[in-house]
Amino acid sequence: MKPGIFISFEGIDGAGKSSHVQAVADAFERAQRQVVLTREPGGTPLAEKLRDMVLHDSMDALSEVLLMFAARRDHLQQVIEPALDRGDVVVCDRFTDATFAYQGAGRGFDFAVLSQLEQWVQGFPSGGLRQPDLTLWFSLDPSIAAERLSNARVPDRFEAQPAAFFAKVHQGYLDRLHAEPARFARIDAANNMEQVRNQVMRVLHERFKVRAPR
Ligand code: TMP
Repeated sequence: MKPGIFISFEGIDGAGKSSHVQAVADAFERAQRQVVLTREPGGTPLAEKLRDMVLHDSMDALSEVLLMFAARRDHLQQVIEPALDRGDVVVCDRFTDATFAYQGAGRGFDFAVLSQLEQWVQGFPSGGLRQPDLTLWFSLDPSIAAERLSNARVPDRFEAQPAAFFAKVHQGYLDRLHAEPARFARIDAANNMEQVRNQVMRVLHERFKVRAPR
């Protein structure tokens, strides 16, 4: 049995990552792999309820952090870990880097507390942490992202944040990349859709020998 693969997608709102999630899943399916396509916050019935709350109900920063990690815990236990145990490919739209970028860098929440929660939620009894094998970070100038979002649907609690918030979130992702460069691939999301797709597929091919679906 091939070992499971865990891939996460990250970026500020408006970076356009979600348009490429399905293409990555298709590429692995074409390579005869079972794929679980999922997202955070969300991915289980409980975590989807928590998503709805955290995106729409007003709350303080600690409640927001605790709900993100509660959703993640359920998602890991119900979906991600069983899929990886089966040898599936998990393609996840956002994971813990989003918590460090949005709640940590964006909201200014204590990084030490985030690290402690990460340890509780993602730690293995034998040591080490569950982390993606590859994180595709869709990197985009926050002012371009804001322009793209201005035509979007009614904004949620995060999309409604000012440009200064997204500048901090962007920096938060950059810091995560610098801390773990081997796990991250930085995708230039200012390019057009086709160029972005090609870059994503190049990364997949380099890391996993998987090719784009025709
Ligand atoms: P999405 O719109 O990409 O599905 O993400 C939902 C929103 O939730 C997005 O604005 C980022 C935010 N978010 C956090 O603030 N912290 C987290 O840990 C996660 C997973 C998402």
